[in-house]
Amino acid sequence: MNTVSPTAILSALEQEQGGLIAQLLHPQKVQRAGRDFWCGSLQGHPVVLGLSRIGKVAAATTTAALIEGFGVGRVVFTGVAGGVGPGVRVGDVVVGAGFVQHDMDASPLFPRFEIPLYGQTVFMGDTVLSGLLVQACQAAMRQGLEGGHSGQVHHGLIASGDVFVSGALQSGAIVRALQDCGHAPLAVEMEGAAVAQVCADYGIPFAAVRTISDRADDTAHVDFSQFVTDVASVYANKIINELLVLL
Ligand code: ADE
Repeated sequence: MNTVSPTAILSALEQEQGGLIAQLLHPQKVQRAGRDFWCGSLQGHPVVLGLSRIGKVAAATTTAALIEGFGVGRVVFTGVAGGVGPGVRVGDVVVGAGFVQHDMDASPLFPRFEIPLYGQTVFMGDTVLSGLLVQACQAAMRQGLEGGHSGQVHHGLIASGDVFVSGALQSGAIVRALQDCGHAPLAVEMEGAAVAQVCADYGIPFAAVRTISDRADDTAHVDFSQFVTDVASVYANKIINELLVLL
């Protein structure tokens, strides 16, 4: 019997998960909390593959189901995000050093962006796992992608909220409000901080990588759709395969 806790690999998009399911050894589909999970092994590591679903609550439920139902020992997340930091371009990747909810505001009861009753605003990615993920991204980027494009690897703050940010004014307002409270986000997305909070509740190491699909500006939705189809799945697959070598 294999007693090693499986690694959860959570994808935001079906396109990102498809290649991983195809590589699974002894694949077994298990339903839990209305979600399909795939158990099996990748490069000799027991894994559970899941789709986070979209938004903070759905992603939190998925994460709790993975931890309670499958006893996963760590959670790795791959997805796409809008780049909002200076020099964070489409095709780059951001590994989350920390995660903040940009739509959390229980002021004046609690400071803006603080998670009530946690006394905490930012949930950190696990240092060791995130470091390995940075290395995996660098290795994947070195290989390059079809078309010769090779992006940069960033490591910094990711801001999550239940909103697809699709306007320069909207993204500027989010970034400024966070900066006024001492936080400088590199990317915006819709799940990471929720997954990080659930992992912190259970004491499970967490790391996330987001490929930048758009600049969270007025053309974000067009860039996003094209990127997801063309590039995101290739990135996710290469990065996870590089990570598994390092684990
Ligand atoms: N995921 C990818 N792009 C995004 C954006 N602009 N806003 C929120 N989530 C995203």
